[in-house]
Amino acid sequence: MTAQLDSFYPTGVTFGTLDEIHRAAAAALPADVFDFVEGGAGQEITLRANRAAFERWRILPEPMSGVGAPSTATELLGMPLATPILTAPFGGDGLFHPDGHLAVARAAAGRGALAIVPEAGSYSYRRVREAGPAAARIAQVHPFAHAGAVAAQVRRLGYQALCVTVDCPVGGFRTRNMGNRFDPDQRFFAGNLTGADGAPGVAEVFGQLLKRGATVWNWDQLAEAASRFGMPWIAKGVLTPAAAEKALEIGATGLVVSNHGGRQVDPAPASLDMLPRIRAAAGPDVPILLDSGIRTGADIFVALALGADAVIIGRSALYGLAAAGAAGVDRVLELLTEELRTLMILAGAATVSDIGRARVLKADS
Ligand SMILES: Cc1cc2nc3c(=O)[nH]c(=O)nc-3n(C[C@H](O)[C@H](O)[C@H](O)COP(=O)(O)O)c2cc1C
Repeated sequence: MTAQLDSFYPTGVTFGTLDEIHRAAAAALPADVFDFVEGGAGQEITLRANRAAFERWRILPEPMSGVGAPSTATELLGMPLATPILTAPFGGDGLFHPDGHLAVARAAAGRGALAIVPEAGSYSYRRVREAGPAAARIAQVHPFAHAGAVAAQVRRLGYQALCVTVDCPVGGFRTRNMGNRFDPDQRFFAGNLTGADGAPGVAEVFGQLLKRGATVWNWDQLAEAASRFGMPWIAKGVLTPAAAEKALEIGATGLVVSNHGGRQVDPAPASLDMLPRIRAAAGPDVPILLDSGIRTGADIFVALALGADAVIIGRSALYGLAAAGAAGVDRVLELLTEELRTLMILAGAATVSDIGRARVLKADS
């Protein structure tokens, strides 16, 4: 009986639910570090709006659909995914667990997910790729002067795409960090920002991100740099149809509909609320990812139904990392994927591309 029960309501595992993982992360991290993770900008209206947006959608059950073994597999920019999930580029990962993105990449590789490797992480692009080469295939970079050099470096390392974060020319007005006088050791952000071999130092990049009044690129400058990337790139932090059109016009291969997990403009609209408009503006063929607020397998289903090809998980992955390193991230990916698979059976969707707009309903209240 236990073996049967285990596949449904596991009894023998450390973390039965995602909520348990969230609580374990809270217990594992110092209060100011947990606030850095949990918090958003300003009054955190967007942070709350991201969750509220998901809670307005309902999934339509499909009785007698005949779907018993749906496939969660898909593909992004020519890369196969066993589950439509990518882990987010979050910087400062060594603050959450000593293994940081090494653990994230290992876990993602084990589950057939992809990992977007951050520029401001604790480990270099090289080390993270070596830890999980099957997953660590997209490198994130900020659109500053050195972006072209980063593209050349990650191309040599075997990365297949670049993720350019376009919504963070300066850090948002992060009120919790301000209240906490949060001042983390910069070495946790210096995996790539070494100041050696032509790479900028962490102080230089933080000087940009933390200084209002520094030089900020426009689309023309990004277009100029991107023309020399020599690899596909996706624009992360697109929240309006106009920005989507602009990014595509200057050569982006794909888009990440994102408000940076509520950490930049507050109050900005929820990513999910903007997704259908951005899909309409971009057309059916442009790869679109969504992040900001994904916490459950149901959220993934809804995001796919409203036009995303796959989702990115920031805090959800980070909770797993903080709770138990690679094993924690692995369990998060497992729980999200198994909930998605369950819903696909119940809603009659045999494949990821079968999860369309007709399968969800916006609730009246
Ligand atoms: C602690 C933390 C650090 C982050 N650092 C970065 C970063 O360096 N670059 C970036 O593009 N996004 C960064 N993000 C944003 C994530 O990539 C992602 O957009 C966001 O977490 C998605 O929302 P979610 O946390 O609700 O899933 C960070 C997020 C968190 C929570």
